[in-house]
Amino acid sequence: MLSKDIRNKFLEFFKSKKHTVVPSDSLVPKADPTLLFTSAGMNQFKEQFLGHNVTYKRAATSQKCLRTADLDKVGKTPSHHTFFEMLGNFSFGDYFKKEAIEWAWEFMTEVLGIKKEKLWVSVYKDDKESYDIWLKDIKVPKKKIVKMGAKDNFWPSNAPKDGPNGPCGPCSEIFYDWGNGKSVEVWNLVFTQFERKEGGKLDPLPNKNIDTGMGLERITSVMQGVKTNFETDLFIPIIEEIKKHNPKLKTRNLNAIADHVRAATFAIADGIAPSNEERGYVIRKLIRRAYLHSGAEEPFLYNLVPKVVEVMKEAYPELLQKREEITLVVKEEEEKFCHTISVTMPLLHEALDAVKDKTLKGKEAFKLFDTYGLPLEVIEEEARKKHIGIDTKAFQKLMDQRRELSRKGGKFKGGIFDVGADTEGKRKIKRNHTATHLLQAALRKVLGEHAHQAGSFVEAGRLRFDFTHTKKVTERELERIESLVNDCIEKGLEVRKEEKTLNEAKAEGAIALFTEKYSGKVTVYSCGDFSKEVCGGPHVENTKDISFFKITHESSVASGVRRVEAFTSDEARKWVEESEKKKTESERAEKKKEEKKALEKKKLKSAEGDIDVIISEAKVIKDVKVIIKEIENANMGILRSLSAKIKSKTKSAFIFLESKDGDKVNMVLTGTKDLISGGLDAEKVIKKAAPIVNGSGGGRPDFAQAGGKDPSKISELFEFIEKTATDII
Ligand code: ALA
Repeated sequence: MLSKDIRNKFLEFFKSKKHTVVPSDSLVPKADPTLLFTSAGMNQFKEQFLGHNVTYKRAATSQKCLRTADLDKVGKTPSHHTFFEMLGNFSFGDYFKKEAIEWAWEFMTEVLGIKKEKLWVSVYKDDKESYDIWLKDIKVPKKKIVKMGAKDNFWPSNAPKDGPNGPCGPCSEIFYDWGNGKSVEVWNLVFTQFERKEGGKLDPLPNKNIDTGMGLERITSVMQGVKTNFETDLFIPIIEEIKKHNPKLKTRNLNAIADHVRAATFAIADGIAPSNEERGYVIRKLIRRAYLHSGAEEPFLYNLVPKVVEVMKEAYPELLQKREEITLVVKEEEEKFCHTISVTMPLLHEALDAVKDKTLKGKEAFKLFDTYGLPLEVIEEEARKKHIGIDTKAFQKLMDQRRELSRKGGKFKGGIFDVGADTEGKRKIKRNHTATHLLQAALRKVLGEHAHQAGSFVEAGRLRFDFTHTKKVTERELERIESLVNDCIEKGLEVRKEEKTLNEAKAEGAIALFTEKYSGKVTVYSCGDFSKEVCGGPHVENTKDISFFKITHESSVASGVRRVEAFTSDEARKWVEESEKKKTESERAEKKKEEKKALEKKKLKSAEGDIDVIISEAKVIKDVKVIIKEIENANMGILRSLSAKIKSKTKSAFIFLESKDGDKVNMVLTGTKDLISGGLDAEKVIKKAAPIVNGSGGGRPDFAQAGGKDPSKISELFEFIEKTATDII
């Protein structure tokens, strides 16, 4: 059975049980900005579980999920992933344990046709109700029902003790037995009946809910009889594609690359650009890791994006629309990483060459890793080549400290962000951090509460902020946003820093971007009453330090995600000055052009006024008016247009007009039709005439023009023309 059939059968089955099939939410959780990524099917239904906004009581989804907790295992084990799809059915105060268990069993054994003997289940140790349903209604033998504690059979895991606060409940899991002592958990049925409160109190929810999750990759491996998820039809085409580029890679490298490239593709499609912060940093890390697994020396992963799109496009058509964009983003990220490696490699070698006792100090390794953005894998690999070890204990300690710091701060900072930043540079970064908070608050005030951070990048003098919003931000809106921020700066709001639990912070309405499981204290920064955000800083002490804020660009980065770019302080002023200068310059140039045009028009007008006089004063030879005339102040354009006018006003005429323009001489020669058919070849004549004034020209028999460089010979020129006219006529 193909993975897509399993996905479809699942949704069809629950549709037949009166569930509304709801599309997958974005990997950037729309309903819960405190989550780093959508990590379970229930994320988009958090409000419904609490009894709010319930418009349908049953739902089923195939949800895109991203989890980073198992990152180190990915590729090495049969069934760990970062990106995966979760099939789920949900009840919001409608059916409960009995139906959830019965339908899960029916789907497994009847729709998918899995043999009952192959399945066993677990229940939460105190959940007698579920135990009895399995035993008495489903008739699973006693020895195949295992009771477990809150770590395994409560969702979120160990929630009563560790949190987080919010909907939770005991769960029951269904396992498939591979028969060699190995089993795989395929479906988790959560009976969401409590709301955990601060301190671990479990309040019964007004409604009893159901939240289930079955990993599509795992159930597919069961159905396709393959021992790892990477051998299913979800992965084989991608792995084959990788092999085409590098046939020598080991299975665990192939698996990890395939996993990470899927994650990056989906994340970028949902508007997460690789960056040094939060979500963007996770994606950056995945791309870097995959690249290193590939052993490539130039961008390579981007070649795999079209394959991922091909495999997944039916279920997630948004990928197809963004295929080129995703490919490009991955490629650019790889190029940057290649560059990082090439710049930092010499530093690594320097450090390795300085090693005395065959061990690279943890501090040294950490500096290369943290400050210069060199992945640990690369450091280890290069050290190994030189038979040098790394003090991993010391490294790990620094890493833990760093993690604690990032956690506290909520920032996932890493990479080569800090290299060379001096004090002034750091001050600039602080300003932009604070300005970003003001910007986010202003965006929400002007555009609405739906606008929340999808990515952010701050460097000295400049900031970039990506946020969820489906339309272009209008000029007017941008002006309002900008002036709200500048008002805050002018008011000189104090920037306060407080330590709180995440829940306290959220209860006070602080904007928070955070992984779901965090029970320690976080830092909350507020700017007056205008903005409150969980963040690691650093920030200025007073908004007036930002001095000035200027939005320079607004654009789209992905569907539903917009980007604002801005400058602060001196950089902002410089930008305004420069753009005003440019504006004045271009206005001036425009004005000059206009003036020149007007002058020419005037000249032409005055010359045109003379046409009748010119014609009436012309010498007449055999009924032919011979007009050989010098015009003042005329360029070639005017001469051309005058000659045409004269021609249209005369029946029979030989027309030669000349004008001096500084050191230059311009001339045109034409004649009425009778003259041309009578033997006047204007081109031939002008080719002979032009050299007299040291010039050259050309044209057609009925019209020719020329330019010359010797005005002193004009009388000779006129003599020649007069003679020619007389000869012809
Ligand atoms: N929310 C449950 C899980 O993620 C189903 O396992």
